[in-house]
Amino acid sequence: MKVGIVGAGMVGSAAGYALALNGAASRIAIVDRNRDLAVAQAQDIAHAVPFAHAATTVEAGDYDVLQDAGVVILAAGVGQKPGESRLDLLARNAEVFAQVIGAVRAAAPQAILLVATNPVDVMTHVTTRLSGLAPGRVIGSGTILDTARFRSLLAGHLGLAPHSVHGYVLGEHGDSEVLAWSSARVGSEPLASVAAQLGAAITGEVRARIDDGVRRAAYRIIAGKSATNYGIGAGLARIVRAIAQDERAVLSVSMCTDEIAGVRDVALSLPRVLGAEGIGATLVPELNPEETAALAASAGLLRETADALAI
Ligand code: LAC
Repeated sequence: MKVGIVGAGMVGSAAGYALALNGAASRIAIVDRNRDLAVAQAQDIAHAVPFAHAATTVEAGDYDVLQDAGVVILAAGVGQKPGESRLDLLARNAEVFAQVIGAVRAAAPQAILLVATNPVDVMTHVTTRLSGLAPGRVIGSGTILDTARFRSLLAGHLGLAPHSVHGYVLGEHGDSEVLAWSSARVGSEPLASVAAQLGAAITGEVRARIDDGVRRAAYRIIAGKSATNYGIGAGLARIVRAIAQDERAVLSVSMCTDEIAGVRDVALSLPRVLGAEGIGATLVPELNPEETAALAASAGLLRETADALAI
């Protein structure tokens, strides 16, 4: 499958690199308003291909290079500066998308759109409106990275592989996100049972440390290296693989949702089934009252933010 990437900065280029390594895309086409940057990123990623399994081709050009893409990753716009929240980026990035989406749709009308630009939930909402596509064909990376952070930190505490720890982060990819502790599992066992068996109880202090480690991860990384890119790049490549291989994989991603926790018409992350046609079903997890209230608050914040854009 051909994958387009609009925005050749830190996130877009990391997604291209991750796609070259995971082999999910047979062709990668990179677009940026700075054409020299797009060409340089394409050449650099192409030089990684001989070390990967698949013979992915990588090119750069104007929007017409997106023709025949099955997925177009939207990573154009500005990223957080130290101290900025993701929501602080909305006005500037919504303006960028007002130009980009029309050009992408004209070049690749058949493509599923995968939004990475922050604030990714409201940008997913904006993209759904601007594109006119069905909600299931406009996917936001959402909390796929937060869920990975949650699983990674939990696994570290338990001394287990992250792949064996199952739990989701829901709602906003941002400060109001919800760690669904009550439904977290290790293998098929409840988290608390496994933690007790391993002598690694989830105390209040452990829970607070992991929550902070997930919720504040990006702020810490941005303070140290000005941006995050490898984690989100790998998350985007994972989403593309689920689409390209029609996996019907369950991933926490963002999409315009009719109603959740009493809030209507809002884009946020829930566990969703991803396959060749984009998002198929949404699997609303069982939550305790505290988590349900936090999800309602997160959805309400995103709805208010969307209201400010009149979408
Ligand atoms: C992060 C960016 C992708 O959480 O929002 O690293």
